[in-house]
Amino acid sequence: MVKLGVNVDHVATVREARGITEPDPVAAAVLAELGGADGITVHLREDRRHIKERDVKLLKETIKVPLNLELAMAPEILDFALAIKPHSATFVPEKRAELTTEGGLDVIANRQRLQTVIENFQAAGIIVSLFIDPDEAQIEAAAELGAQFIEIHTGRYCDATCENDVRNEFSLIEQACITAANCDLRINAGHGLNYRNVSQIARLPGLEELNIGHSIIARAVYVGLERAVREMKNLLP
Ligand code: PXP
Repeated sequence: MVKLGVNVDHVATVREARGITEPDPVAAAVLAELGGADGITVHLREDRRHIKERDVKLLKETIKVPLNLELAMAPEILDFALAIKPHSATFVPEKRAELTTEGGLDVIANRQRLQTVIENFQAAGIIVSLFIDPDEAQIEAAAELGAQFIEIHTGRYCDATCENDVRNEFSLIEQACITAANCDLRINAGHGLNYRNVSQIARLPGLEELNIGHSIIARAVYVGLERAVREMKNLLP
């Protein structure tokens, strides 16, 4: 069974549009659990544009499913994560001006810093995942650093518009799964997945969990969050 991790950042985005206390991503996470979410993901960005420390703390205390914290290697965010001890930490690159995470982490260029950070997180009992593009050299570097998981960036596959590009991007992801399995890495995937493109990705061999945010929260505006999550769950094998 492929697990569904629901990213509730966008609930906090709506809250921050008004600068008040609702809608609350913690309440949303509880509804997502009721809809069958196997995990909850939030990204504590350096600019705190949506999720805040308060949300992460309350989520850790409230939800029954594992909490996955996405983060960049900024010192104060690392310290906070080590204190909160989420079930897992997914390291992502972060750019101030981006609307959402634009690509995978450059594990090779950041090898030295990642080495220390991964050791510190694993020593604290936090499972480490690296969000990377479907690129053989990056996957091998993730394995050499001892990360337990990679999360394969599916954004380019999801953004592809012509059939040829879709096929090429899909085969890169397929190959990435084979490389990761050969390196004994466990495999998650996510970014840009929706109700139409998820099925093909969900059938990839060795895939454990998909992290999905935008499409579920968008659908929830029309049908409610519990139902939106259940509909996505029903598309997973
Ligand atoms: N995985 C990672 C590492 C992400 O940064 C995001 C976006 O926050 C997602 C998955 C979910 O992407 P989407 O909102 O497009 O489903």
